Amino acid sequence: MINDIEKVLYSEEELKKIVEDLGKKISEDYKDKNLLLVSILKGSIAFMSDLMRAITVPCAIDFMAVSSYGKGTQSGVVKIIKDLDIDIAPYDVLIVEDILDTGRTLHYLREILLKRNPKSFKICTLLDKPDRRIAPLKVDYSVLEIPDEFVVGYGLDYAEKYRNLPYIGVLKPSVYSSDNKQK
Ligand code: IMP
Ligand code: MG
Repeated sequence: MINDIEKVLYSEEELKKIVEDLGKKISEDYKDKNLLLVSILKGSIAFMSDLMRAITVPCAIDFMAVSSYGKGTQSGVVKIIKDLDIDIAPYDVLIVEDILDTGRTLHYLREILLKRNPKSFKICTLLDKPDRRIAPLKVDYSVLEIPDEFVVGYGLDYAEKYRNLPYIGVLKPSVYSSDNKQK
């Protein structure tokens, strides 16, 4: 598995520090609010798990699962696989997402969740690939800008693999170029 990684972008230690700092900032910003963290499965699982423990103000959590059709490196149409359990109307919602790529996923989620009238609605994404943006989107907490390379680890997958790597690394293009026909 490690042989499939071209280079490490963010080590386990770096991610720990980055997420702890972010948790402090969010705790400050939400100290008088009714925070609900909404983790977008599955990619944000590691980020969510570390971020919620770095947040020192009371918060509720919930999960939503969406998928883009196709299992390759391209994201297409968005589909809800699991909706929230909680009624978000009394909450200051903060979406916790792993990566913002074309922006289609978060653009779509924003549209449907705003219709449920939360007290406020903000988006936090750990990684951002600004070069790939198609859908217009304002992100409130964008932590790390990365170049247009396919990354895995710390929750992020390629074809459901590599999520358990404790760091974020660039996947060797040879790993997915041989799968092109499946996209
Ligand atoms: P968007 O809708 O194009 O912004 O895509 C967002 C989703 O595509 C993310 O939540 C990821 O699941 C997936 N994705 C985009 N880029 C990468 C990547 O480099 N590695 C792993 N997953 C990615
Ligand atoms: Mg995702």
